[in-house]
Amino acid sequence: MNTALKYPSAILPIRRDLKFNLPADRISDWHQPAGPIFTAFLNTFSIVLPIGERFFIDSVRAYRDQITDPELKRAITAFIGQEAMHGREHEEYNNALFAVTPVAPKFERLVKGILDGVTRYTPKSFALSATIALEHFTALLADSVLREPRVSEGAEPHYRALWMWHALEETEHKAVAFDTWTAVMGRGPGAYAIRAFGMTAATVIFWALVIPAFLAVLRTEGKLADTKAWRKFYTFTLGDIGVLRIQLRDYFDYFRPDFHPWDHDNREFLLQIDAFLAEQEKLVA
Ligand SMILES: [Fe+2]
Ligand SMILES: [Fe+2]
Repeated sequence: MNTALKYPSAILPIRRDLKFNLPADRISDWHQPAGPIFTAFLNTFSIVLPIGERFFIDSVRAYRDQITDPELKRAITAFIGQEAMHGREHEEYNNALFAVTPVAPKFERLVKGILDGVTRYTPKSFALSATIALEHFTALLADSVLREPRVSEGAEPHYRALWMWHALEETEHKAVAFDTWTAVMGRGPGAYAIRAFGMTAATVIFWALVIPAFLAVLRTEGKLADTKAWRKFYTFTLGDIGVLRIQLRDYFDYFRPDFHPWDHDNREFLLQIDAFLAEQEKLVA
């Protein structure tokens, strides 16, 4: 089995135990420049982050004992630590959301049931292939948040800081699950087939779950008919700002047999971490 990593330990992630003291009363309008529909879109992602990140942790941890490279082992420990912290902070975020959006906990239970089913009834390689696919998603969204200042400009500072922190750390650890995959599965055609199938399935299932949940959140919040907010949503997702549009090419790169997350070298954003941490400390002081 080919266990050589293409970018051995390009970045060693660091677990950071941060708090954000989110103002719960701003949960539905924390991003006024982007409008209520784009805000609800990010809130819908948040609903599934704690259970999704738990799933990522479990699927990487299931292979940890097979990893011999000490640097990758260290990176896995840091990855688990980072995802655990993200889950904890998004739980606080979700507490505020669940209090005003009763459909949100129902959506969380549905997705939890599906992820538990994947863990219980499919081979652990499939859970890891779903994890590396969804980690690619999060890395792409993180890149949009870090690349395009207008995505977060003018948002309520505590919420903005939470998403910036998450984007920075998703970038920092974007190759850890993938390197685990390569180390245990190799780069042969069989591994490629499972990885490509995992991304196809993850894409279809993810949007098939997220879109109806997003619409249900909007319906309960009475925002479905807000045409001005839909125009802003278009600008932010597919239009000029385009958090989804600007990532399309990188999304498809995943299907190249020799793909690696650091082929998209955006480590320059990680230089912002120290300045970000100093700001964040002031914010929650
Ligand atoms: Fe995360
Ligand atoms: Fe992640």
